[in-house]
Amino acid sequence: MLETILVTGGAGFIGSNFVLNWLANERSALVNLDALTYAGNLQNLASIDGDSRYSFVHGDIGDASLVQDLFRKHQPRAIVHFAAESHVDRSIHGPADFIRTNVLGTFQLLETAREYWKNLSGERRERFRFLHVSTDEVYGSLGPKDPAFCETTAYAPNSPYSASKAGSDHLVRAYHHTYGLPTLITNCSNNYGPRQFPEKLIPLMIINALNGKALPVYGDGMNVRDWLYVEDHCEAIRTVLERGRPGETYNIGGRSEMANIDVVKTICSVLATERPGRDYASLITYVKDRPGHDRRYAIDSRKIESELGWRPRQTFQTGIRSTVRWYLGNDDWIQNVTSGAYQKWISVNYATRG
Ligand code: NAD
Ligand code: TYD
Repeated sequence: MLETILVTGGAGFIGSNFVLNWLANERSALVNLDALTYAGNLQNLASIDGDSRYSFVHGDIGDASLVQDLFRKHQPRAIVHFAAESHVDRSIHGPADFIRTNVLGTFQLLETAREYWKNLSGERRERFRFLHVSTDEVYGSLGPKDPAFCETTAYAPNSPYSASKAGSDHLVRAYHHTYGLPTLITNCSNNYGPRQFPEKLIPLMIINALNGKALPVYGDGMNVRDWLYVEDHCEAIRTVLERGRPGETYNIGGRSEMANIDVVKTICSVLATERPGRDYASLITYVKDRPGHDRRYAIDSRKIESELGWRPRQTFQTGIRSTVRWYLGNDDWIQNVTSGAYQKWISVNYATRG
């Protein structure tokens, strides 16, 4: 029987890139559990329809009996946990779902994994891993000259989103410390790349620019993020799963710190060469800032780089060109995700920023 891993949230942005990356590079099978919220999209995974190593299960990570059944049936060698509510602006408008999925859902998953792992023996018990995918936002906000976040930086989450992720990280840590569950935590910086839902900065800007719509930059545009190409992130997760030490945290960054306004200007200049004919930069519009907006995130990735030998392959310049090209080549995908409920979100989030 092929070894299996269980992935949660594999129909979302990073999860779907990970599922595709896994099946392309590994021999084992993969079960994808996803509730298909607004952020889950099976079109992301259409290319693996019919792959005998892949199966999809529609369900909630908080559904204990469903998750227990999946453990019993597939006897996974690991769980890679992506499922979450992931957008800061949405957490400001409605934090309840963030607590439900990110905190309570992770708790439920940990309980089920612990029960399963407890009853394993020998090599299967030795090899089992619970890999929890988290964010650099749990560390709070940096000043311009502060050192980048490392694995021992104190937690100081500022938004309901980051607070809910911090809560889940603490639970994962406690399940290792108290019960010995072989956990791994990864805290990564902002991802970008193909299949990202256009509520986040980069796909929103690409799609608005293509439609001749305003490019809404929050505040003064000088907030800094460290951009990580999603494929590099997927490689990092496979590396941590294979060689990371149980109980440890690994920070993953892209070595690409940039102010938002520079990100938006770069997108405009890539579009000007890939799809000429419009003055994209003239669409840039400064709008009212996000409440509690973290000024700067930066990741110190030296631990994963020196201990596990991982490094990002893409620079922002190469990664953003691939990303823009992917959106230019996937008009169907854009049409499907920007209809219906998406329009409602856009009017809620941007109505009061004028
Ligand atoms: P996403 O919002 O694109 O996808 C989340 C997926 O989880 C969706 O497919 C959704 O349907 C599923 N999901 C949500 N609630 C669920 C539930 N209760 N049960 C089962 N499935 C559920 O998110 P993403 O950007 O791919 O992020 C994946 C993970 O990486 C998250 O844990 C996020 O906190 C973390 N992360 C993301 C970034 C980033 O830049 N996107 C950066 C750092 C960390
Ligand atoms: P986002 O993609 O929402 O990720 P996060 O808040 O998790 O970092 O936002 C990235 C940065 O871009 C953040 O500083 C907020 C800013 N931003 C804008 O300026 N305009 C926008 O329309 C959005 C969605 C984000």
